[in-house]
Amino acid sequence: MPEGAQVQRMFSGIAGRYDLLNHVLSFGLDGWWWRRMASRAAAGPGLRFLDVAAGTGDSSVALARRGADLVSTDFTHAMLRLGPAKFRRLDLNRRIWASVDADAQRLPFRDGRFDGVTICYGIRNVEDRPRAYGEFLRVLAPGGRLTILEFSRPVWGLRQLYDLYSRFVLPRVGGWISGDPTAYAYLPESIRRFPDGPGLARELEAAGFGEVEWERLSGGIVALHTGRKTVTETSESR
Ligand SMILES: C[S@@+](CC[C@H](N)C(=O)[O-])C[C@H]1O[C@@H](n2cnc3c(N)ncnc32)[C@H](O)[C@@H]1O
Repeated sequence: MPEGAQVQRMFSGIAGRYDLLNHVLSFGLDGWWWRRMASRAAAGPGLRFLDVAAGTGDSSVALARRGADLVSTDFTHAMLRLGPAKFRRLDLNRRIWASVDADAQRLPFRDGRFDGVTICYGIRNVEDRPRAYGEFLRVLAPGGRLTILEFSRPVWGLRQLYDLYSRFVLPRVGGWISGDPTAYAYLPESIRRFPDGPGLARELEAAGFGEVEWERLSGGIVALHTGRKTVTETSESR
């Protein structure tokens, strides 16, 4: 796991090419994965969302398009600063009312502020995941939902093909478009080290989330996990 400063350096270096890289390397599937994420997050009018590790803002756009109001955050300023122009261009700047520099492990928001927290392709890079989960729980309102979209393990059959793609094609094409040969060489290794679908679900339960559910998208290339900040009944409230 690279340290936070290394992650920031890497994303600062590729920020200008990040959107193009996403579209090319996912064969255009990225848009569908974000839309599915926003639907599973149950984003909708009147709900307040926090999009953590929002990068250049495409995950935030998917949430805002469903009518949610949200704050977009990331700890790499070079990525985050590209969001607002995109939000204005898409006429979503009234919905995405702030872009805030913030580390997922130390969120500058008060307790219970959000109905939903989302993190897309970001949790894999967080150094102390339990600490980030604690922050997500803290800023969620009771009953609020965490949604994680992240690379996962493709099902058998697709896995062999995907391994070849991620080992030989992805680092080369990623390095060529981004100009940083190391940025996409690290991606397959970071996915391999990250928990698989059931492992991440267990991790969320251990962190205190209830009603944890998950599904594979595109044969498990990515997975979508959700968990709820469940409200435990106290003796006074009974
Ligand atoms: C692959 S990009 C994803 C951006 C966006 N969510 C998307 O779906 O395109 C990962 C982002 O996670 C951010 N990130 C990684 N670790 C972070 C942390 N501890 N706190 C906040 N952001 C973090 C990086 O700066 C980067 O912009």
